[in-house]
Amino acid sequence: MENHWTILITGGLGYIGSHTAVLLAQAGHDIIIVDNLSNSYLTTLYKIQELTGKDDIIFYEADLKNKDKIEKIFTNHPEIDTVIHFAGKKAVGESCQSPFLYYENNIQASIQLYNLMLKYGVKNIVFSSSATVYDTTKGIPPYSEGDRLNTANPYGSTKLINEYILKDLAHHKGLNTILLRYFNPIGAHESGLIGENPKGIPNNLLPYVLKVANGEIEELEVFGDDYETEDGTGVRDYIHVEDLAQAHVDAYNYLIKVLQDNPEKVVDTFNIGTGNGTSVLQIVEIARQVTEKEIKYKIAPRRDGDAGTVICSPQKAKQILGRNPEKTIYDAIQSSWNFIQKNNEK
Ligand code: NAD
Ligand code: WQD
Repeated sequence: MENHWTILITGGLGYIGSHTAVLLAQAGHDIIIVDNLSNSYLTTLYKIQELTGKDDIIFYEADLKNKDKIEKIFTNHPEIDTVIHFAGKKAVGESCQSPFLYYENNIQASIQLYNLMLKYGVKNIVFSSSATVYDTTKGIPPYSEGDRLNTANPYGSTKLINEYILKDLAHHKGLNTILLRYFNPIGAHESGLIGENPKGIPNNLLPYVLKVANGEIEELEVFGDDYETEDGTGVRDYIHVEDLAQAHVDAYNYLIKVLQDNPEKVVDTFNIGTGNGTSVLQIVEIARQVTEKEIKYKIAPRRDGDAGTVICSPQKAKQILGRNPEKTIYDAIQSSWNFIQKNNEK
Protein backbone atom coordinates (compact mmCIF):
# COMPACT_ATOMS: atom_id res chain seq x y z
CA MET A 1 0.00 0.00 0.00
CA GLU A 2 1.15 3.52 -0.65
CA ASN A 3 1.68 6.11 2.03
CA HIS A 4 -0.49 8.69 0.36
CA TRP A 5 -4.14 8.36 1.20
CA THR A 6 -7.43 10.01 0.52
CA ILE A 7 -9.67 10.27 3.52
CA LEU A 8 -13.34 11.17 3.56
CA ILE A 9 -14.10 13.02 6.79
CA THR A 10 -17.78 13.03 7.69
CA GLY A 11 -18.69 15.86 10.06
CA GLY A 12 -15.34 17.43 9.21
CA LEU A 13 -16.50 20.99 9.89
CA GLY A 14 -17.55 20.10 13.43
CA TYR A 15 -15.54 20.53 16.60
CA ILE A 16 -13.37 17.40 16.61
CA GLY A 17 -13.54 16.81 12.84
CA SER A 18 -12.11 20.25 11.98
CA HIS A 19 -9.09 19.82 14.28
CA THR A 20 -8.45 16.36 12.84
CA ALA A 21 -8.84 17.65 9.26
CA VAL A 22 -6.11 20.21 9.91
CA LEU A 23 -3.66 17.61 11.23
CA LEU A 24 -4.36 15.12 8.44
CA ALA A 25 -3.96 17.77 5.74
CA GLN A 26 -0.78 19.02 7.41
CA ALA A 27 0.52 15.43 7.37
CA GLY A 28 0.12 15.48 3.59
CA HIS A 29 -3.03 13.38 3.21
CA ASP A 30 -5.72 14.35 0.78
CA ILE A 31 -8.95 15.00 2.58
CA ILE A 32 -12.52 15.37 1.44
CA ILE A 33 -15.03 16.76 3.90
CA VAL A 34 -18.75 16.13 3.97
CA ASP A 35 -20.99 17.96 6.43
CA ASN A 36 -24.62 19.09 6.45
CA LEU A 37 -23.78 22.17 8.60
CA SER A 38 -26.44 21.16 11.12
CA ASN A 39 -24.01 21.95 13.93
CA SER A 40 -21.20 23.81 12.15
CA TYR A 41 -20.46 26.70 9.84
CA LEU A 42 -19.02 26.95 6.33
CA THR A 43 -16.52 29.52 7.59
CA THR A 44 -14.74 26.65 9.38
CA LEU A 45 -13.77 25.30 5.95
CA TYR A 46 -12.00 28.55 5.14
CA LYS A 47 -10.23 28.44 8.49
CA ILE A 48 -9.04 24.88 7.83
CA GLN A 49 -7.76 26.09 4.46
CA GLU A 50 -6.02 29.01 6.12
CA LEU A 51 -4.38 26.83 8.77
CA THR A 52 -3.14 24.23 6.29
CA GLY A 53 -2.35 26.53 3.38
CA LYS A 54 -4.43 24.21 1.20
CA ASP A 55 -7.24 25.94 -0.62
CA ASP A 56 -8.09 22.85 -2.63
CA ILE A 57 -9.67 20.85 0.19
CA ILE A 58 -12.83 19.40 -1.29
CA PHE A 59 -16.06 20.03 0.59
CA TYR A 60 -19.52 18.62 0.02
CA GLU A 61 -22.46 20.14 1.82
CA ALA A 62 -24.57 17.02 2.11
CA ASP A 63 -26.58 15.11 4.65
CA LEU A 64 -25.51 11.52 5.27
CA LYS A 65 -29.19 10.61 5.13
CA ASN A 66 -29.25 11.64 1.47
CA LYS A 67 -28.14 8.46 -0.26
CA ASP A 68 -27.87 9.93 -3.75
CA LYS A 69 -25.63 12.79 -2.63
CA ILE A 70 -23.36 10.51 -0.60
CA GLU A 71 -23.16 7.92 -3.37
CA LYS A 72 -22.11 10.71 -5.75
CA ILE A 73 -19.13 11.46 -3.48
CA PHE A 74 -17.93 7.86 -3.78
CA THR A 75 -18.44 7.78 -7.55
CA ASN A 76 -16.70 11.15 -7.96
CA HIS A 77 -13.76 10.02 -5.82
CA PRO A 78 -12.73 6.41 -6.38
CA GLU A 79 -9.46 7.37 -4.67
CA ILE A 80 -11.10 7.44 -1.23
CA ASP A 81 -9.67 4.61 0.83
CA THR A 82 -10.65 5.55 4.37
CA VAL A 83 -13.57 7.20 6.11
CA ILE A 84 -13.24 8.96 9.44
CA HIS A 85 -16.80 9.12 10.63
CA PHE A 86 -17.49 12.03 12.99
CA ALA A 87 -20.90 13.11 11.68
CA GLY A 88 -23.60 12.61 14.23
CA LYS A 89 -25.83 14.32 16.71
CA LYS A 90 -24.45 14.36 20.24
CA ALA A 91 -26.85 16.01 22.69
CA VAL A 92 -27.90 13.52 25.35
CA GLY A 93 -31.00 15.47 26.47
CA GLU A 94 -32.24 15.99 22.91
CA SER A 95 -31.79 12.26 22.25
CA CYS A 96 -34.11 11.44 25.16
CA GLN A 97 -36.75 13.83 23.80
CA SER A 98 -36.39 12.76 20.16
CA PRO A 99 -34.90 9.27 20.04
CA PHE A 100 -35.92 8.64 16.42
CA LEU A 101 -34.02 11.72 15.30
CA TYR A 102 -30.94 10.05 16.79
CA TYR A 103 -31.70 6.60 15.39
CA GLU A 104 -32.19 8.08 11.91
CA ASN A 105 -29.23 10.44 11.99
CA ASN A 106 -26.69 8.36 13.87
CA ILE A 107 -27.68 4.77 13.03
CA GLN A 108 -29.70 4.68 9.80
CA ALA A 109 -27.49 7.21 8.00
CA SER A 110 -24.36 5.42 9.24
CA ILE A 111 -25.59 2.04 7.98
CA GLN A 112 -26.17 3.64 4.59
CA LEU A 113 -22.64 5.06 4.67
CA TYR A 114 -21.12 1.66 5.52
CA ASN A 115 -23.15 0.03 2.76
CA LEU A 116 -21.83 2.56 0.24
CA MET A 117 -18.28 2.10 1.51
CA LEU A 118 -18.49 -1.63 0.84
CA LYS A 119 -20.17 -1.06 -2.53
CA TYR A 120 -17.31 1.22 -3.62
CA GLY A 121 -14.50 -0.84 -2.08
CA VAL A 122 -13.60 1.59 0.72
CA LYS A 123 -12.21 -0.75 3.33
CA ASN A 124 -11.09 1.37 6.28
CA ILE A 125 -13.03 3.31 8.89
CA VAL A 126 -12.25 5.18 12.09
CA PHE A 127 -15.41 5.75 14.12
CA SER A 128 -16.13 8.36 16.81
CA SER A 129 -17.38 6.40 19.77
CA SER A 130 -17.68 7.65 23.30
CA ALA A 131 -17.08 7.01 26.98
CA THR A 132 -20.85 6.87 27.16
CA VAL A 133 -20.78 3.19 26.06
CA TYR A 134 -19.34 2.08 29.43
CA ASP A 135 -21.71 0.77 32.07
CA THR A 136 -21.15 3.42 34.72
CA THR A 137 -23.86 2.01 36.98
CA LYS A 138 -22.00 -1.26 37.59
CA GLY A 139 -18.49 -0.54 36.34
CA ILE A 140 -15.67 0.92 38.41
CA PRO A 141 -13.49 3.66 36.90
CA PRO A 142 -10.97 3.87 35.34
CA TYR A 143 -12.64 2.14 32.40
CA SER A 144 -10.64 -0.18 30.15
CA GLU A 145 -11.65 -1.24 26.65
CA GLY A 146 -12.74 -4.72 27.78
CA ASP A 147 -15.04 -3.44 30.54
CA ARG A 148 -18.74 -3.98 30.66
CA LEU A 149 -20.81 -1.89 28.23
CA ASN A 150 -24.29 -0.46 28.58
CA THR A 151 -26.04 2.76 27.75
CA ALA A 152 -28.25 5.15 29.64
CA ASN A 153 -29.81 7.20 26.83
CA PRO A 154 -30.64 7.00 23.09
CA TYR A 155 -27.51 8.96 22.12
CA GLY A 156 -25.33 6.42 23.93
CA SER A 157 -27.25 3.57 22.34
CA THR A 158 -26.53 4.96 18.86
CA LYS A 159 -22.81 4.84 19.66
CA LEU A 160 -22.90 1.31 21.04
CA ILE A 161 -25.06 0.03 18.17
CA ASN A 162 -22.61 1.54 15.66
CA GLU A 163 -19.78 -0.22 17.47
CA TYR A 164 -21.60 -3.57 17.16
CA ILE A 165 -22.47 -2.99 13.49
CA LEU A 166 -18.89 -2.04 12.64
CA LYS A 167 -17.52 -5.09 14.46
CA ASP A 168 -19.90 -7.29 12.45
CA LEU A 169 -18.82 -5.64 9.21
CA ALA A 170 -15.17 -5.98 10.19
CA HIS A 171 -15.52 -9.69 10.87
CA HIS A 172 -17.81 -10.61 8.01
CA LYS A 173 -17.24 -7.99 5.31
CA GLY A 174 -13.59 -7.12 5.79
CA LEU A 175 -14.20 -3.51 6.85
CA ASN A 176 -11.06 -2.51 8.77
CA THR A 177 -12.37 -0.74 11.82
CA ILE A 178 -10.91 1.38 14.58
CA LEU A 179 -13.31 2.47 17.30
CA LEU A 180 -12.12 5.46 19.31
CA ARG A 181 -13.94 6.04 22.58
CA TYR A 182 -13.44 9.69 23.40
CA PHE A 183 -13.72 10.83 26.99
CA ASN A 184 -14.39 14.58 27.49
CA PRO A 185 -12.87 16.73 24.72
CA ILE A 186 -12.22 20.39 25.56
CA GLY A 187 -10.03 23.19 24.21
CA ALA A 188 -9.41 24.72 20.83
CA HIS A 189 -6.73 25.06 18.18
CA GLU A 190 -3.78 27.10 19.43
CA SER A 191 -4.33 29.62 16.62
CA GLY A 192 -7.76 30.49 18.04
CA LEU A 193 -9.19 30.06 14.54
CA ILE A 194 -11.17 26.89 15.20
CA GLY A 195 -12.76 25.59 18.38
CA GLU A 196 -16.04 24.44 19.84
CA ASN A 197 -18.77 26.52 18.31
CA PRO A 198 -22.03 24.66 18.82
CA LYS A 199 -25.33 26.02 17.55
CA GLY A 200 -27.76 26.79 20.40
CA ILE A 201 -27.25 26.49 24.15
CA PRO A 202 -24.21 24.37 25.05
CA ASN A 203 -24.76 21.09 26.87
CA ASN A 204 -21.25 20.38 28.01
CA LEU A 205 -19.60 21.86 31.06
CA LEU A 206 -16.71 23.93 29.67
CA PRO A 207 -18.61 25.84 26.94
CA TYR A 208 -21.18 26.66 29.62
CA VAL A 209 -18.56 27.82 32.14
CA LEU A 210 -16.91 30.06 29.54
CA LYS A 211 -20.24 31.58 28.53
CA VAL A 212 -20.68 32.55 32.19
CA ALA A 213 -17.15 34.04 32.18
CA ASN A 214 -18.03 35.90 28.98
CA GLY A 215 -21.19 37.35 30.49
CA GLU A 216 -23.55 35.53 28.12
CA ILE A 217 -25.04 33.33 30.84
CA GLU A 218 -25.61 34.51 34.38
CA GLU A 219 -24.53 31.48 36.38
CA LEU A 220 -23.53 27.86 36.16
CA GLU A 221 -25.57 25.15 37.78
CA VAL A 222 -23.29 22.57 39.33
CA PHE A 223 -25.16 19.31 39.02
CA GLY A 224 -24.68 17.72 42.43
CA ASP A 225 -22.10 18.15 45.18
CA ASP A 226 -22.76 14.88 46.98
CA TYR A 227 -20.88 12.42 44.78
CA GLU A 228 -18.15 10.27 46.27
CA THR A 229 -15.43 12.49 44.90
CA GLU A 230 -12.92 14.77 46.60
CA ASP A 231 -15.14 17.87 46.55
CA GLY A 232 -18.45 16.08 45.91
CA THR A 233 -18.82 17.29 42.30
CA GLY A 234 -18.63 15.16 39.16
CA VAL A 235 -15.17 14.08 37.99
CA ARG A 236 -14.36 13.61 34.29
CA ASP A 237 -11.40 12.79 32.09
CA TYR A 238 -10.93 15.96 30.01
CA ILE A 239 -8.70 15.72 26.95
CA HIS A 240 -7.44 18.59 24.81
CA VAL A 241 -9.06 18.45 21.38
CA GLU A 242 -5.64 18.79 19.72
CA ASP A 243 -4.46 15.63 21.52
CA LEU A 244 -7.70 13.94 20.52
CA ALA A 245 -7.24 14.98 16.89
CA GLN A 246 -3.66 13.66 17.03
CA ALA A 247 -5.01 10.32 18.26
CA HIS A 248 -6.89 10.01 14.93
CA VAL A 249 -3.70 10.53 13.00
CA ASP A 250 -1.98 7.95 15.21
CA ALA A 251 -4.87 5.51 14.83
CA TYR A 252 -4.81 5.99 11.10
CA ASN A 253 -1.04 5.42 10.92
CA TYR A 254 -1.48 2.29 13.04
CA LEU A 255 -4.21 1.04 10.71
CA ILE A 256 -2.00 1.53 7.67
CA LYS A 257 0.99 -0.10 9.32
CA VAL A 258 -0.95 -3.18 10.42
CA LEU A 259 -2.48 -3.53 6.96
CA GLN A 260 0.97 -3.32 5.38
CA ASP A 261 2.26 -6.09 7.64
CA ASN A 262 -0.89 -8.17 7.52
CA PRO A 263 -3.44 -7.30 4.86
CA GLU A 264 -6.02 -9.51 6.55
CA LYS A 265 -8.16 -7.25 8.69
CA VAL A 266 -8.01 -4.82 11.57
CA VAL A 267 -10.63 -4.34 14.23
CA ASP A 268 -9.68 -2.59 17.42
CA THR A 269 -10.99 -0.26 20.11
CA PHE A 270 -9.13 2.44 22.03
CA ASN A 271 -9.98 4.78 24.86
CA ILE A 272 -8.85 8.30 24.10
CA GLY A 273 -8.45 10.20 27.34
CA THR A 274 -5.73 11.10 29.82
CA GLY A 275 -6.54 8.85 32.77
CA ASN A 276 -6.71 11.94 35.03
CA GLY A 277 -9.87 13.18 36.69
CA THR A 278 -10.93 16.80 37.21
CA SER A 279 -14.00 17.89 39.16
CA VAL A 280 -16.57 20.49 38.15
CA LEU A 281 -15.32 22.89 40.84
CA GLN A 282 -11.72 22.39 39.72
CA ILE A 283 -12.75 23.30 36.17
CA VAL A 284 -14.51 26.41 37.50
CA GLU A 285 -11.37 27.39 39.44
CA ILE A 286 -9.02 26.92 36.48
CA ALA A 287 -11.43 28.86 34.26
CA ARG A 288 -11.48 31.67 36.83
CA GLN A 289 -7.67 31.83 36.79
CA VAL A 290 -7.47 31.74 32.99
CA THR A 291 -10.22 34.26 32.30
CA GLU A 292 -9.67 36.43 35.36
CA LYS A 293 -13.46 36.66 35.58
CA GLU A 294 -15.80 35.69 38.34
CA ILE A 295 -17.71 32.53 37.49
CA LYS A 296 -20.95 32.52 39.42
CA TYR A 297 -22.35 29.11 40.23
CA LYS A 298 -24.93 27.48 42.39
CA ILE A 299 -25.24 23.90 43.51
CA ALA A 300 -28.20 22.23 41.80
CA PRO A 301 -29.60 18.70 41.99
CA ARG A 302 -27.76 15.87 40.25
CA ARG A 303 -28.45 15.57 36.51
CA ASP A 304 -30.41 12.47 35.57
CA GLY A 305 -28.16 9.66 34.39
CA ASP A 306 -24.89 11.30 35.50
CA ALA A 307 -22.15 9.25 37.13
CA GLY A 308 -19.85 10.61 39.85
CA THR A 309 -16.54 9.68 38.24
CA VAL A 310 -15.85 8.78 34.60
CA ILE A 311 -12.19 8.37 33.73
CA CYS A 312 -10.40 5.98 31.43
CA SER A 313 -7.37 3.81 31.36
CA PRO A 314 -5.39 5.26 28.44
CA GLN A 315 -2.78 2.44 28.61
CA LYS A 316 -3.85 0.56 25.49
CA ALA A 317 -3.78 3.66 23.31
CA LYS A 318 -0.43 4.61 24.79
CA GLN A 319 1.09 1.17 24.13
CA ILE A 320 -0.34 0.54 20.68
CA LEU A 321 -0.91 3.97 19.16
CA GLY A 322 2.28 5.13 20.82
CA ARG A 323 1.57 8.57 22.18
CA ASN A 324 0.36 10.24 25.32
CA PRO A 325 -1.79 13.36 25.50
CA GLU A 326 0.62 16.25 25.85
CA LYS A 327 -1.49 19.20 26.84
CA THR A 328 -2.88 20.13 30.25
CA ILE A 329 -6.36 21.17 31.28
CA TYR A 330 -4.97 24.64 31.84
CA ASP A 331 -3.73 24.68 28.19
CA ALA A 332 -7.14 23.48 27.05
CA ILE A 333 -9.15 26.08 28.95
CA GLN A 334 -6.77 28.83 27.90
CA SER A 335 -7.08 27.83 24.23
CA SER A 336 -10.89 27.76 24.46
CA TRP A 337 -10.89 31.20 26.04
CA ASN A 338 -8.53 32.48 23.34
CA PHE A 339 -10.91 31.09 20.70
CA ILE A 340 -13.89 32.78 22.32
CA GLN A 341 -12.05 36.10 22.60
CA LYS A 342 -11.04 35.98 18.94
CA ASN A 343 -14.60 35.24 17.91
CA ASN A 344 -15.92 38.03 20.11
CA GLU A 345 -13.76 40.49 18.20
CA LYS A 346 -15.34 39.63 14.85
P1 NAD B 1 -20.01 18.42 16.26
O1 NAD B 1 -21.48 18.54 16.34
O2 NAD B 1 -19.20 19.63 16.46
O3 NAD B 1 -19.58 17.78 14.87
C1 NAD B 1 -20.41 16.87 14.17
C2 NAD B 1 -20.52 17.38 12.75
O4 NAD B 1 -21.33 16.46 12.01
C3 NAD B 1 -21.20 18.74 12.66
O5 NAD B 1 -20.42 19.58 11.84
C4 NAD B 1 -22.56 18.46 12.02
O6 NAD B 1 -22.98 19.53 11.21
C5 NAD B 1 -22.26 17.20 11.23
N1 NAD B 1 -23.41 16.30 11.03
C6 NAD B 1 -24.29 15.83 11.95
N2 NAD B 1 -25.19 15.03 11.38
C7 NAD B 1 -24.88 14.97 10.05
C8 NAD B 1 -25.45 14.32 8.93
N3 NAD B 1 -26.55 13.57 9.04
N4 NAD B 1 -24.89 14.49 7.72
C9 NAD B 1 -23.77 15.26 7.58
N5 NAD B 1 -23.20 15.92 8.61
C10 NAD B 1 -23.75 15.77 9.82
O7 NAD B 1 -19.58 17.27 17.29
P2 NAD B 1 -18.14 16.83 17.77
O8 NAD B 1 -18.03 17.19 19.20
O9 NAD B 1 -17.12 17.25 16.82
O10 NAD B 1 -18.33 15.25 17.74
C11 NAD B 1 -17.90 14.48 16.63
C12 NAD B 1 -18.24 13.03 16.91
O11 NAD B 1 -17.63 12.61 18.13
C13 NAD B 1 -19.74 12.78 17.08
O12 NAD B 1 -20.05 11.55 16.47
C14 NAD B 1 -19.90 12.67 18.59
O13 NAD B 1 -20.99 11.85 18.93
C15 NAD B 1 -18.59 12.04 18.99
N6 NAD B 1 -18.20 12.33 20.37
C16 NAD B 1 -18.16 13.64 20.79
C17 NAD B 1 -17.82 13.92 22.10
C18 NAD B 1 -17.84 15.33 22.62
O14 NAD B 1 -17.97 15.52 23.84
N7 NAD B 1 -17.69 16.34 21.78
C19 NAD B 1 -17.48 12.86 22.98
C20 NAD B 1 -17.53 11.56 22.51
C21 NAD B 1 -17.87 11.30 21.19
C1 WQD C 1 -19.26 17.10 32.77
C2 WQD C 1 -19.50 17.29 34.26
C3 WQD C 1 -21.82 17.23 34.87
C4 WQD C 1 -22.94 20.91 32.78
C5 WQD C 1 -21.21 14.16 27.93
C6 WQD C 1 -21.93 13.04 27.25
C7 WQD C 1 -20.93 12.00 26.81
C8 WQD C 1 -19.81 12.63 25.97
C9 WQD C 1 -19.20 13.81 26.65
C10 WQD C 1 -20.40 12.49 23.67
C11 WQD C 1 -20.57 16.35 34.82
C12 WQD C 1 -21.23 18.58 35.15
C13 WQD C 1 -22.23 19.84 33.30
C14 WQD C 1 -23.45 21.89 33.67
C15 WQD C 1 -22.49 20.67 35.51
N1 WQD C 1 -20.30 13.15 24.73
N2 WQD C 1 -22.02 19.72 34.64
N3 WQD C 1 -23.20 21.72 35.01
O1 WQD C 1 -21.78 14.31 31.08
O2 WQD C 1 -19.34 13.68 31.17
O3 WQD C 1 -20.52 13.62 29.05
O4 WQD C 1 -20.24 14.72 27.03
O5 WQD C 1 -20.23 11.33 23.51
O6 WQD C 1 -21.64 11.06 26.09
O7 WQD C 1 -22.85 12.46 28.16
O8 WQD C 1 -20.01 15.82 30.06
O9 WQD C 1 -19.68 18.24 29.93
O10 WQD C 1 -22.03 17.36 30.12
O11 WQD C 1 -20.50 17.18 32.09
O12 WQD C 1 -22.30 20.56 36.73
O13 WQD C 1 -24.09 22.85 33.26
O14 WQD C 1 -20.00 18.60 34.48
O15 WQD C 1 -22.73 16.85 35.87
O16 WQD C 1 -20.18 16.00 36.11
P1 WQD C 1 -20.48 14.32 30.45
P2 WQD C 1 -20.60 17.22 30.47
